[in-house]
Amino acid sequence: MKEQEQKERIPADPYGEEGLSLLREAVRDRMSEKRYRHTLGVEKKAAELAAVYAPEKTALLRAAALLHDLTKELPAEEQILLCRRFGVSVPRDCLESPKLFHSLTASLLIPEEFPLYADPALLQAVARHTAGHPRMMLCDKLLYLADWIEDTRTFPGCVKLRTYYEKKIRKADTEAKRLAALDQVMLRSFDVMIREILAEKRPLALITVETRNALLRDLAERKNERKTITHGSEK
Ligand SMILES: [Fe+2]
Ligand SMILES: [Fe+2]
Repeated sequence: MKEQEQKERIPADPYGEEGLSLLREAVRDRMSEKRYRHTLGVEKKAAELAAVYAPEKTALLRAAALLHDLTKELPAEEQILLCRRFGVSVPRDCLESPKLFHSLTASLLIPEEFPLYADPALLQAVARHTAGHPRMMLCDKLLYLADWIEDTRTFPGCVKLRTYYEKKIRKADTEAKRLAALDQVMLRSFDVMIREILAEKRPLALITVETRNALLRDLAERKNERKTITHGSEK
């Protein structure tokens, strides 16, 4: 009874410490211990990244991190049923690579099961955290990266990416350099992911290629802008 009451408690501020603590308890019931440890790791890393890039988004990113893998452990058949229930046509990319389903289905399910967290920026970050998106916003990027480099990840590609991010961010002493560092680290993650998919002869989602190309374009534009500013100041 007590436990039930606690689960149904509505926090005064869903993004305050009490709200996030209740959310943590609720998601814990929905996943394996391993997935929950990863989820807590993503929450911690998302908060660290938010402190660097967007302190005002810290609570939103912590909540997004807690919810990002909500449906990860559901079998493909259930993911398909969820898409149908929400009137969303089942994407071909997801049928070919069922790992991609959970970003979409979590973003569909959150407003229904966790309506206090149905914030468009949170839902978008969750929806884009696996395959990316060619127009990723800052929150999307921070959740995506936190998922890759959180401290419980031991896959060599993730460990190397974490070290690469730490090296880049140490050297970045202006906001422009920090944003460029973020895109460079993101680009490397897509390179690692695409290489792995090709090596394993798995289908490559078009959106993943488009996201990588967009990051390349953004980085080239930033470089050109820097050149223009440098030349301008020399005159
Ligand atoms: Fe995920
Ligand atoms: Fe994850």
